[in-house]
Amino acid sequence: MNFHGFCYLLHILAWFLLLTHSYSDDGRKTYIVYMGDHQKDVELSESLHIRMLQNILGSKYTPDTLLHSYKKSFNGFVAKLTEEEAVRMEGLDGVVSVFQNKKNELHTTRSWDFIGLSQTVKRTNTESNIIVGVIDNGIWPESDSFDDQGFGPPPQKWKGSCQNFTCNNKIIGAKYFHMNGPYGKEDLISPRDSKGHGTHCASTAAGNSVEFTSFFGLASGTARGGVPSARIAVYKPCWSSGCDDADILHAFDEAIEDGVDIISLSLGPTEVQHNNYFNDIFAIGAFHAMKKGILTSTSAGNSGPEFYTVSKNAPWLLSVAASTIDRKFFTSVQLGDGTVYISLYKFKEFYGVSVNTFDLKNKSYPLIYGGNAPNTTGGFNSFRSSLCLENSLDENVVKGKIVLCDGFLDPASVGLVSGAAGILLRSSTPKDNAFTFALPAVHLSLEDGALIQSYINLTSNEGKDSLAPYIASFSSRGPNAITPNILKPDLAAPGVDILAAWSPIMSVSDVKEDERKTKYSINSGTSMACPHATAAAAYIKSFHPDWSPAAIKSALMTTATPMSVQLNPEAEFAYGAGQINPIKALNPGLVYDANETDYVNFLCGHGYDTKKLKSITKDSSKCTQTNNGMALDLNLPSFALSINSSTPFHGTFHRTVTNVGSNTSTYKARVTALPPSLSNFKVEPDVISFSSVGQKKSFTLSIEGTLNVEISSSFLIWDDGTFQVRSPIVLFLPQM
Ligand SMILES: *[C@@H]1O[C@H](CO)[C@@H](O)[C@H](O)[C@H]1NC(C)=O
Ligand SMILES: *[C@@H]1O[C@H](CO)[C@@H](O)[C@H](O)[C@H]1NC(C)=O
Ligand SMILES: *[C@@H]1O[C@H](CO)[C@@H](O)[C@H](O)[C@H]1NC(C)=O
Ligand SMILES: *[C@@H]1O[C@H](CO)[C@@H](O)[C@H](O)[C@H]1NC(C)=O
Ligand SMILES: *[C@@H]1O[C@H](CO)[C@@H](O)[C@H](O)[C@H]1NC(C)=O
Ligand SMILES: *[C@@H]1O[C@H](CO)[C@@H](O)[C@H](O)[C@H]1NC(C)=O
Ligand SMILES: *[C@@H]1O[C@H](CO)[C@@H](O)[C@H](O)[C@H]1NC(C)=O
Repeated sequence: MNFHGFCYLLHILAWFLLLTHSYSDDGRKTYIVYMGDHQKDVELSESLHIRMLQNILGSKYTPDTLLHSYKKSFNGFVAKLTEEEAVRMEGLDGVVSVFQNKKNELHTTRSWDFIGLSQTVKRTNTESNIIVGVIDNGIWPESDSFDDQGFGPPPQKWKGSCQNFTCNNKIIGAKYFHMNGPYGKEDLISPRDSKGHGTHCASTAAGNSVEFTSFFGLASGTARGGVPSARIAVYKPCWSSGCDDADILHAFDEAIEDGVDIISLSLGPTEVQHNNYFNDIFAIGAFHAMKKGILTSTSAGNSGPEFYTVSKNAPWLLSVAASTIDRKFFTSVQLGDGTVYISLYKFKEFYGVSVNTFDLKNKSYPLIYGGNAPNTTGGFNSFRSSLCLENSLDENVVKGKIVLCDGFLDPASVGLVSGAAGILLRSSTPKDNAFTFALPAVHLSLEDGALIQSYINLTSNEGKDSLAPYIASFSSRGPNAITPNILKPDLAAPGVDILAAWSPIMSVSDVKEDERKTKYSINSGTSMACPHATAAAAYIKSFHPDWSPAAIKSALMTTATPMSVQLNPEAEFAYGAGQINPIKALNPGLVYDANETDYVNFLCGHGYDTKKLKSITKDSSKCTQTNNGMALDLNLPSFALSINSSTPFHGTFHRTVTNVGSNTSTYKARVTALPPSLSNFKVEPDVISFSSVGQKKSFTLSIEGTLNVEISSSFLIWDDGTFQVRSPIVLFLPQM
């Protein structure tokens, strides 16, 4: 072989090596190995993780295969493994679950308008001891919303710190997490927020009161968090590439150890996931938080309105749906005159929108909101007509007009829109691939603002139905795909058109060329609903520091404002117990409490074996005949029963209520079943008396009958004349 030939051979060999090398690299993915409760000795757990990896990988082990060891609040690690190695890893002692690292995204959409919050509610001094942990894409610390004027030093219990970031007495902790792959070009390698989302969520939950904020003159008033005296701790696992499971879990690990009082998470899987509870980072993180008395409040997701789209299904966490705000608020917004005319052609010119089923003439038409023109004779309500479903609009009203629709539908289901001149698809999730008609209304211009104003006017001046809050179409719906007999979402909170602080380096429309930067911005999504619920929970905790996460959740659910089943055909699967009422939640009368033991019993009854549960709880708890808990018996403030068919059924729920109201009280049970229910409800006993606060009393709720509809909603109310403790009861056909 001549020299040339030799080189050629080397070249081939090099390619071969490169190929095989990259092949083996490709075969390795990032896995999370979850091992339950944390070890006392932190050093030991890391060396244990290394030994486990050496055991499985043998000679292929290199130190960089271990990406991270979780050791503060729970035990586990992140490693590069092949599928086969992951399977073998799962067989090792002490391993609860092994699952691949997945991407998550922020649960935001972008919209308009604005919400106001009452400023004069009663508060306690303890509010400033409450620390809200926000797991998101960081924070913009210079915002007026996070000014620390008047704040003392952090509460003594606080163990957190600030990483590459200057904290103050308002933002008392800030950390960032990124263990896998390179940073993106736009990423700020610190807890600072370059996108606005984390700033928005943190200020909605616990931002200071900032007056006269305004978004390009559209909304003006005061932007403020629900608990403005509370402290904020920021955990940033989200980057331009998304939010890795492994990093979110790292954020939980730190936040729990640092001593936050509540965790707020406005993000979720990029695709709807139905993992079992121990392959699900939200369930795992929230479980260990719950063990330390920390409630985790999460966004239900923006994958609605289809059923089974909630990804946060664990009973120990709070899943929050997004409702519209009280429309009456808008009547205070001053508007121009009469009908607003708008040209689709112009719209297209501005935004490049493709509304190609219509012949776009350079002509203006009156604008009307679909929700204000239901075809009632055809049996459609305004929720359906807001979606502009075929025949749902009143032809006489919409003919020759441009109809604003809550747009997530495909053209086929819309039909000819009852003679309308055109439609505007108001899509709340422009980034969501499922919504093919994602209209870039995200690009909010002044013209756009005029359009919105007219929308506001139309909505606030017509039809009683449209005044009531309803669940946004994007908000994920139940039932719970993992445990159908546990209701999800839990409740609803405002998540449409929320004004809050923003990152001033981010353009308001997410469009690079858009020069308009702002310190406050208006957003929609379950991302925005979540921090409202977080703040409500923090508010309760400031009055009742000793309440468990389950008690706080119960207080929020049993006092929630009922929502309309007419406006929300998915009923409880859209809104859970209803829309939060933080003030009422302070004094719920009774709570449905639950602790780790209750959840472990529930897991025993759902196929999680003793060995794994032992790792999780770090005690000798065993699954036995007696603690083989059924979902029906988990002590939740809601009742859900999945029913096979229209043949007769029966179900029995066991519950225990704890008196947190008056020392002596007598409660009577009342079930209100909405027609046409064909079920009989029996509460036993149906009168319960208490002689002291803290006392517990048990009862059973039995239901039998036949189901003649897909979803049947009823309520159980315990009433002592002062407190009405209300729980939803949902009977449903799982295949609806
Ligand atoms: C701290 O943040 C700056 C940018 O804000 C970044 O350039 C730097 O690399 C970060 N330092 C560390 C240690 O991560
Ligand atoms: C808004 O509604 C009020 C009351 O019906 C009406 O007087 C006003 O002209 C309307 N403005 C617009 C822009 O539609
Ligand atoms: C559309 O109409 C407006 C006035 O009604 C006119 O100023 C504009 O030039 C027209 N645009 C086109 C592309 O015809
Ligand atoms: C209402 O809907 C029905 C079909 O359900 C349709 O036949 C009728 O034309 C609609 N009425 C109006 C006024 O649009
Ligand atoms: C949970 O509460 C029950 C009583 O309701 C109690 O027996 C049990 O010890 C508690 N478990 C934990 C882990 O606190
Ligand atoms: C529903 O049907 C399945 C099998 O078809 C059965 O195992 C289960 O017990 C039924 N559940 C109820 C509540 O009747
Ligand atoms: C309830 O009873 C306890 C002990 O008897 C007493 O200390 C407490 O003040 C009472 N609380 C109320 C609200 O009456």
